[in-house]
Amino acid sequence: MTTEPSSMLDVQDFEPAEAVFRREVIEGLRQSPKTLPCKYMYDERGSQLFDDICELPEYYPTRTELSIMREHADEMADALGENCLLIEYGSGSSIKTRLLLEAMKDPAAYVPLDISREHLAKSAAKLSKLFPGLQVMPICADYTADFELPQPDKPAENTAVYFPGSTIGNFLRGEAIEFLRHIAEVVGSGGELLIGVDIKKDIPTMEAAYNDAAGVTAAFNFNLLKRFNRELDADIDLDSFRFRAIWNEQESRIESHLISNIEQTIHIGGEAVHFDKDERVRTECSYKYALDDFASIADQAGFDVRKVWMDDNNLFSVQYLVAR
Ligand code: AVJ
Repeated sequence: MTTEPSSMLDVQDFEPAEAVFRREVIEGLRQSPKTLPCKYMYDERGSQLFDDICELPEYYPTRTELSIMREHADEMADALGENCLLIEYGSGSSIKTRLLLEAMKDPAAYVPLDISREHLAKSAAKLSKLFPGLQVMPICADYTADFELPQPDKPAENTAVYFPGSTIGNFLRGEAIEFLRHIAEVVGSGGELLIGVDIKKDIPTMEAAYNDAAGVTAAFNFNLLKRFNRELDADIDLDSFRFRAIWNEQESRIESHLISNIEQTIHIGGEAVHFDKDERVRTECSYKYALDDFASIADQAGFDVRKVWMDDNNLFSVQYLVAR
C-alpha cells in the first residue's frame, strides 16, 4: 500500500495495477461469448460520461433514487443511528451522499471508496468542504478486492455501507451474494447496509434507459475501447463496432454489447483476438430485481431487509439491511 498526497485530501491507494487490468481484459476476451469487466469503464473520462448518463431523460434510475433520498433521507438516517462510520462504495458524484450525510446525526467519519482516483479526490474534497466537521477518508480501490478500513479519530458506534446507484445490478447473481457477504463481513454482525436496487419493470422503459437517443451510453462503452488503444497498446478501429443494449428476460438483466460490424482480428496487450461479423462482446449486465428476489439474495448473504423505500411508480428502491 502506498499513500500519495493529493492537492486536497490524502487518497489511500489500492488502485489496480496495469497488469491486472490487462489480464482481466484478455481473460474476458478469451471467453465465449466474449465479455469485458465493466468496472474498467470508469476511468476519468468514463466517470464523466457516466455522470452525463445520469442526466439523460431515458435514464430513470438516478433521478428516481434521488427523489427517494429527498423524500426519505431522515428515516434512513434514523435507521443508521448516531455516531456511525459511513463507508460509500463507489463515491459517484455524491449528491445522494450529501442528502444522507445532511440527515445523519454526528457521523463518526465518511469513507468514500472509488476505482477512479481523480473522480474520488474531487468528490471527496467537495464533500469535505461541505461538511467541515466531518472526517473524510477517501480510499482508491476496487471495492470487490480487499482493502484496509481506516480508523477514524472519533471511535464509531456502528459501521454502515452505503451502496447507491444500483451498482449491485452489475454483479451476476452469485457474485452479488458473494459481494453482499463480503459487505456483511466489513460491517460485522449488527452492521448496516443502505443499498439502491433497481426494480424490474416494463421492457421498453428498461431498454430505453441504456439505448439513449443522444448516444451517451454508446460513448461510455466506446470509451473502454479507447482505453484499450491508449493503455493496452490495442489497434481497435472504433468504427468497426456498434453498441446495443438488450433485455434478457431469463436472467432479468439488461446486457450492454459492443458488436463487431466486420470479421476482424484486433490486437491488444500483445495478443490477437478474432471477431466474427456481428459477434458481440458483453460489456455490462444491469440486473433488475423484484423485491422478493432481492430479499432472497440478501438473506443468502446473511442480511435481513428491514426497510424498503420506493418512488410512487415503483421504479426504484432504496433498502435498509442489517447483518445477522
Ligand atoms: C451505475 C451500474 C447502475 O447499470 O445502470 C448506466 C451503469 N451503464 N448506463 C447501470 C450504467 C450504462 C449503471 N450502474
